[in-house]
Amino acid sequence: MTQHAVAMPDSFSADAALAVLNEGGNAVDAAIAAQFVLAVTYPEAGNIGGGGFMLIHKDGQQHFLDYREMAPGRAHRDMYLDENGDVIPYASLFGTLAAGIPGTVEGMWQAHQRHGTLPWARLVQPAVMLAAEGFVVPEKLAGRISRYIERIEARDIDVNFAEFFADAKAGETFVQTELAVTLMRIRDKGADGFYRGTTASIISEFMADNGGLINEDDLAAYTAQWRQPITAQWRDYTVVTSPPTSSGGIAILQWLGMYDRVEQRLGVEMKHNSVDYMHVLAEVGKRVFADRGEYLGDPDFVDVPTGDLLNDDYLDQRAAPIQLGKLSLTESVKPGLKESEDTTHFSIVDSMGNAVSNTTTINLSFGSGVVVEGAGFILNDEMDDFSAKEGVPNFFGAIGGKANAIAPYKRMLSSMSPTIVLQEGRVKMVTGSPGGTTILTSVYQSILNALVFNMPVEAVVNTPRFHHQLLPEHLIRHHPGIDASTLNALVDMGYNLRESEFGDLHVILKTEQGLTAASEARGRGKAVVEVTE
Ligand code: GLY
Repeated sequence: MTQHAVAMPDSFSADAALAVLNEGGNAVDAAIAAQFVLAVTYPEAGNIGGGGFMLIHKDGQQHFLDYREMAPGRAHRDMYLDENGDVIPYASLFGTLAAGIPGTVEGMWQAHQRHGTLPWARLVQPAVMLAAEGFVVPEKLAGRISRYIERIEARDIDVNFAEFFADAKAGETFVQTELAVTLMRIRDKGADGFYRGTTASIISEFMADNGGLINEDDLAAYTAQWRQPITAQWRDYTVVTSPPTSSGGIAILQWLGMYDRVEQRLGVEMKHNSVDYMHVLAEVGKRVFADRGEYLGDPDFVDVPTGDLLNDDYLDQRAAPIQLGKLSLTESVKPGLKESEDTTHFSIVDSMGNAVSNTTTINLSFGSGVVVEGAGFILNDEMDDFSAKEGVPNFFGAIGGKANAIAPYKRMLSSMSPTIVLQEGRVKMVTGSPGGTTILTSVYQSILNALVFNMPVEAVVNTPRFHHQLLPEHLIRHHPGIDASTLNALVDMGYNLRESEFGDLHVILKTEQGLTAASEARGRGKAVVEVTE
């Protein structure tokens, strides 16, 4: 029996990916088609105006494509500070100045050049059709759009989002004509249909008229980078995950590695979502985020000590002070070496055993809130993922320093963590999630759920998760559904708790019975496994 499987953020992308697989396309072809469809039907995070990471397992080899946005050529370190050196509220979150140079179209083009098998135009066409002829707006999307419009109006934020999206009503067909024409140029001209010619001049003129920085030279200068994925042995598995510019691979492997060390030291298996389990993983999270803030940034600009941060001796030393029942003081957790969020993810396995784990983003839901007039797509607000000022938290509460300072053509640090786990060289699990810094948690906890606690795939994605990240001090964010007595015990220990619904896992898991797939129930995802012969 051969099978293929998809776990997608919505039904339109799932159907498009399955159609490609059923036509004989491989997982990369299906991923490209899905990415463009999401730019139409999942406007809060799907995009051509943002960026992302694609992790590919193909013919037994692993490849990682960094199509993260870059700072424009005229960006500079202090661009979001006022004359007193304070961060200007919202400047890196809304409006044209918040946008980095989009990377998605170049990313898809590069992926297709190296690994695609079906014609490029075939893969872009489903998105063209959905934009030109419209799609029926799901209720959850309509709700997110109307809540977003209320929020930006309440805060008096001057962006043009409502002009383009106020008509998207639940159950009604929503057409995006300008976006359709932009997608046609991409379909017919490839990456040049976005980075050169008509689209590039529309973007550049729109930026110039609206206080943005991105110009035609910036668009022509954009490159996506093939990087070596991080690969590490963990228990009986090989974890293949995201290298910098992502913080994800390092964070996930630190989390898994320190968890194992504490458990071995204690000599007992911790019970899932028990007080000890949540406390130990929160303690690990403090250390992960202290390192993230100090050492991680764009590897084309800074030397990221990946090997040192994942070294066995280093993880032994980092895990050693973690004690049951006792919280580390936040200020005592230093970097160790001497130191409505949105995004979306999908997972695909084809019938040849190839896999794609792809996470893509325009940062917050609906990005910068700005639609490029004449081109119809939403611009990212990814510049907020840089450290606007040393030690000042960004939207996700993450702090950073020199390694993640703004510089022209530099990529901002990300938490996106597309990950594939192999067993004896074959795909065991494909995982990933949106959620800013909580992505790291959703991904490592999905791995623990599946491979330590042996949960079926629906439970892997839907079991309540919890997140701690050093700052705010002693705060654990948790999904609804964690046992009340556990939460009370954590409060007694000194934790602050906040219920919050973060993440949207899309996971494919190989079991003895074959592939299984699930998308988190809170979202509007669709996961399907099909038998191919
Ligand atoms: N914009 C969220 C991230 O890349 O981490």
